[in-house]
Amino acid sequence: MWSTCPLLILILSLSFFPKSLSTPLETYEINLDLDPSVRYAGLFDLPNTNFNETVWKFYDEYFKDDEVLTDVLYGIAEKRGKENEEQQAEIEGLATMSKLPLPFVQGIQMLYELQTIMVPIVNFTKSAVEAEKLLPPEYKALSRIPWRGPGCTGIIARASDDTVYHARNLDFSPVDIMGNLVYNGVFTRNGKEVFRSQMVAGYTMAITGARFGDDGYAIERNTRYADHKGGFEEMMKNLFSGRPLNGWSLRKVLETVDNYDSAVSEIQTMPYTSTEYCIISGVQKGRIISRNPDNVAHLQILDQPNYKERSDYIIITNFDYFWGDVREWFDPTGGNGMFHPRRIAAQKYLNSTVEGEITYDDLWNTINDKGVFADTIFQAIINVERGVWDVSQPDTLPESQK
Ligand SMILES: *[C@@H]1O[C@H](CO)[C@@H](O)[C@H](O)[C@H]1NC(C)=O
Ligand SMILES: *[C@@H]1O[C@H](CO)[C@@H](O)[C@H](O)[C@H]1NC(C)=O
Ligand SMILES: *[C@@H]1O[C@H](CO)[C@@H](O)[C@H](O)[C@H]1NC(C)=O
Repeated sequence: MWSTCPLLILILSLSFFPKSLSTPLETYEINLDLDPSVRYAGLFDLPNTNFNETVWKFYDEYFKDDEVLTDVLYGIAEKRGKENEEQQAEIEGLATMSKLPLPFVQGIQMLYELQTIMVPIVNFTKSAVEAEKLLPPEYKALSRIPWRGPGCTGIIARASDDTVYHARNLDFSPVDIMGNLVYNGVFTRNGKEVFRSQMVAGYTMAITGARFGDDGYAIERNTRYADHKGGFEEMMKNLFSGRPLNGWSLRKVLETVDNYDSAVSEIQTMPYTSTEYCIISGVQKGRIISRNPDNVAHLQILDQPNYKERSDYIIITNFDYFWGDVREWFDPTGGNGMFHPRRIAAQKYLNSTVEGEITYDDLWNTINDKGVFADTIFQAIINVERGVWDVSQPDTLPESQK
């Protein structure tokens, strides 16, 4: 039913936003019937945004004068080579529009993958600085890549109305840049929505997406760090082998798979370039898939006893807490600082509810809890069964970014 709705109705349905305390996102239609090179042609004209100025600011502030960093980033992109024809045409279209150097636009497509090396610490006996020292010398400059995060919080809950809700924070710094690049992308064919995704201007891949329908699903990506020594080398090997970037594979799942079970099976088996979490919710279903590049490291499935006393929610931030990953204690991004993991703050809030009685408001309050909220640039509450896609930006962004 949803997939056949005219775009107009979908845009109208987006006019409901969770709270007056948040700012709605601008919506841009990405028409898959158009040649990929011109799909983003109107993106820089979207009202209430300044995407072109912002991507230039990003480049000018962090890359233009750092020859060593750009050499490394462009070198990796060059060694990797072009993306598949469709994605490459989109990337080249974006480079032409913005007039930014093509290798730069190419390089930032790898942001999720490269981010996995920016682990807060490698080992609690070593400092964060030493984590950088573990980078092979030729890649040391990557420690100056300005983006941090995508940190994130993802929660799937069976709520008091017995439907499945999905709540998400996307944490991504520098906030003054990233917060100014977010939009709601509606991917269409024949004038009808196929799927939608929260997007970052200049990046061609899905970050938080949903394909609505009777058996639809919503997905969220969270950064996951390698869980063993040698993870960095493995990821680089995959990058150079030309494996599709994680976000592109997920975008293709959204485009081609219309039901939850097939989406889950694709996401659990397709090759990833780097470690990553996929949080996927559907009608009466949900799971958190912890992916290694070649296999599934761990699954949390809604309604199964993931925690001792209750089974009505599952949660992930950026760490394998189910295995006691100590690194989450050294993540400074939550509102209560280091040694106060975002995940624990969120669980504290969720645990204060009665099992089976979690509400929309509880989820909203959880992702806005001081200890959970980080460099948050995007928030969503999604319910596939009810057709809810409440996406917004926190009002804590400086006035200039709204
Ligand atoms: C984006 O900004 C650059 C640099 O100012 C400019 O050359 C380019 O024409 C702009 N592109 C668009 C589509 O406005
Ligand atoms: C941390 O590193 C030390 C050696 O430096 C090692 O003995 C220890 O097992 C490591 N701990 C973890 C949690 O990786
Ligand atoms: C929340 O409740 C679950 C289930 O009882 C428990 O495993 C977890 O430790 C609790 N966490 C917090 C922070 O209260």
